[in-house]
This record gives sequence, structure tokens and C-alpha cells, in this order.
Amino acid sequence: MKTAELYDKYMITGMVAGFVPLEVEDATGSILTGTDGKQFLDCFSGISVCNAGHGHPEVVAAAKEQIDKLVHCCTYVYYNPRAGEFAKVLADATPGKLQQSFFGNSGAEAIEGALRLAKQHTGRNEVIALTQSFHGRTYATLSITGNSGRKINGGPYMPGVSFAPAPHFYRCPFNSATEEECGERSAMALRDVIKYHTSNNVAAFIAEPIMGEGGIIVPPPNYFKLVKEILDDLGILFIADEVQSGFGRTGKLFGIEHYDVEPDIMTMAKGIADGFPLSSFTTTPEIASAFKPGDHLSTFGGSPVSCAAAIANMNVMQKENLPQRAEQSGNTIMTAMRKVQEDCALIGDIRGKGLMIGIELIKDADKTPAAAEAKAVRTRCFEKGLLVGVGGALANVVRVQPPLTMTDDEVGKAIDILTQVITEVNAA
Ligand SMILES: Cc1ncc(COP(=O)(O)O)c(C=O)c1O
Repeated sequence: MKTAELYDKYMITGMVAGFVPLEVEDATGSILTGTDGKQFLDCFSGISVCNAGHGHPEVVAAAKEQIDKLVHCCTYVYYNPRAGEFAKVLADATPGKLQQSFFGNSGAEAIEGALRLAKQHTGRNEVIALTQSFHGRTYATLSITGNSGRKINGGPYMPGVSFAPAPHFYRCPFNSATEEECGERSAMALRDVIKYHTSNNVAAFIAEPIMGEGGIIVPPPNYFKLVKEILDDLGILFIADEVQSGFGRTGKLFGIEHYDVEPDIMTMAKGIADGFPLSSFTTTPEIASAFKPGDHLSTFGGSPVSCAAAIANMNVMQKENLPQRAEQSGNTIMTAMRKVQEDCALIGDIRGKGLMIGIELIKDADKTPAAAEAKAVRTRCFEKGLLVGVGGALANVVRVQPPLTMTDDEVGKAIDILTQVITEVNAA
């Protein structure tokens, strides 16, 4: 049976709007090869996961070495050496006082754990998130996701969740004239949400430092500083969801470093181990101490193989200067696409940091979202051998999130294809 037939017959696929005709046989660096031998330049990294490139030899070697020794370890009462070692690596890499980690398997699992810890530490039970956010597909993480498109038919959701407006300058709900004004007004709106929408029992505010699924929304530079002041005044914890923005993606190791703010808890997954399943929530010893015996556990969390891969992944990040490379390649792509924008009414906005780039497509001067056109761009790019994503709350943002290891030639090729395709779709 062909893979597509196996999928149709034996897999639950009703939630997929449509598969593209690509069966991935293998992948190296930024290149995916299909079972038919066709090659693709991957500018989506398996939804922003393989930051160090597909199958980085050092990550693969570390995992293979670990597989020969120990694949799984009971996570409850025995010590798993690789988990301890990786926890130290994270303590050294994350900002300031974040020193202790709990390992799970997925982003959603990390966030579920972080929410529970925040509630136990503060003794409070409410949470605030941002509109247009995305935090996962489990009950609690969908409850704090600010996008009805993702939540449809799944409710009613967890009580005690309120939403503050996304700090989104291009589509600012306050029509701010400057980024600074947008940052200020969005932070003040969060303060109002706490005051008017909650029962004043808020444990945590959770936000993505750069919002991925919402359409690569980059909060204004002043936003998180203002927010943190408000939260600190009220004893509310700040959870930075770095699941997508972490591990060099934005040009710094973690997205929140662009804002010079220290979160109280950080959640991570995706790029943490270059494709091996692993997640973490990482916090201060004081907050971590809220967990008492029996409070939390994950059978597969912190797998020795994933932790060995994660340690190697972090070494690669440093050795190959991946955050800096992301910044350089990202600037090259954004500068080139801004040139294209000068003669292309279809491009409304180009934004991002490092290699977390969104190209928002619009139909007219009123910024009517061009969702069908964004889909057409993805399809035509695919036909020309380039994989990009489409996302955003309005489904009109082309997402460019390649491996950070992309070569200059590959960056040039991605720019050429994107330019050709967007120009064609604009003309059509
Ligand atoms: C910011 C953010 N948080 C959480 C998640 C959920 O991660 P996972 O799919 O690994 O559960 C995602 C996934 O896209 C994400 O982008």
C-alpha cells in the first residue's frame, strides 16, 4: 500500500486540511528528500524544530551512543545522568535565576506543568494569556490559546482564564502611531484585564516572546518591561513560552533576551534537541520548591536519548554560532523581501527576528487579509522546491523558519524562489 493510502485507511487525518504530495524519506541540513528522489529546501524546519539542521551529525552521534547504553530510565526514583547534565546546561544558558528544570515530551506538556507550578507557588488559580497566542492542543493549553480557530468544537474550556490584547503594532487594536505607544497601551490593557476581568487571584501571565502561530508577531521593544513591572507589583508570575522562539531561532538563544526581562518560568520544546522529543519548564529554586512529593511526573519525560541529543544540540548552537547566523541570515532575507515589497501591494508587512520571519499578505489598503494568496504562495513555492509555512490568526502570513544552519547559497535560493512566487501571485 502507498503511504497516502495507509494514512487514509489507518490514521486519523480529518483535522488535516490537505496533505502535499511529499513523502519524506530522509533529510540532511536544510534539504529534505522525498521517496521519489525529489529534493526540497526546507524553510519550515518541521514546524520550527530542527534549528541545528536535520540530522546534525553531532546530535545524531550523541543519541546513537546513548541508545547503545540506556534508552529509558524510570523518571521517579532513579537518577538519569543525562537529565542531570542537561538540566545544568539549561541552568547555565537561561537568564538569571532560572536554575531548575522539569523535563517532559512536548511543548503543551511543559506548559501544563508550568501552569500547575505557578498555581501551587502563588496559591492562586487564575491565568492571563494574550489574544492571538498559541500554547498547544491539550485542554489547559487550548484554554489559554487566544484564537477561536484553534479551539473550535473543543469547549467549554478551563475556567479562570482571561485574555489581554496581543501587542501587535501592524494591526494595533489601539491604532497606535508608534511601536512605543502600542507597547504602552497594550501593557496598560493587561493591567485593565487584571483589574476588570479577573477575581484578582491571578497566578500567572503567559506570553510567547515572539508569537509564532499567531503570525510572527513581534511585541514592541518596551512591552515586556512594562508588563513585568505590573506583574511584579501584583505578585503575578511571568511565564515566557519559548517553545517556538527558543534555541537560537530569533537570533538570541531565547526570544525574551531581546527584551532584557527575566521571566519567572520558561517553557521550551521544539528546537531543544534538534528533533528528539523533549520539553522543559525551567524556573527558580524558590518557585520550584512549591512542588511536593507526588505533585508532578512524566513517564517518558527527560528520556536519556533526548537529553543526550539536547546536550549535543546546545554544544552545536555555541560552536557554530547558530543564534548569530540566524540573525545574519534573517536580516538578509528580510532586507531582500522589503525590496520586493516596494513594488508589491500584496505584501503588507514583513516582520520577525532572526529566522522567525512572517510575510503578511493583504488584498488592499484596508489590510484585508489575503489568506487564499498565502496558500497559493505556499503551493507555488512547493512546486519550485521550497517549503514554507502559512499561519497567523487570519491565515495570511507566510512563515519562513528554516534551520539556522542554512548556507548563504541556500538563503539566496530561498529569496529567489520567494521573490518569484510572491511577484507572480501579486500579478495574478
Ligand atoms: C509557542 C508554542 N507553545 C506551545 C506549543 C505546543 O507545542 P507541542 O506541539 O510540542 O505540544 C507550540 C507549538 O506550535 C508553540 O508554538
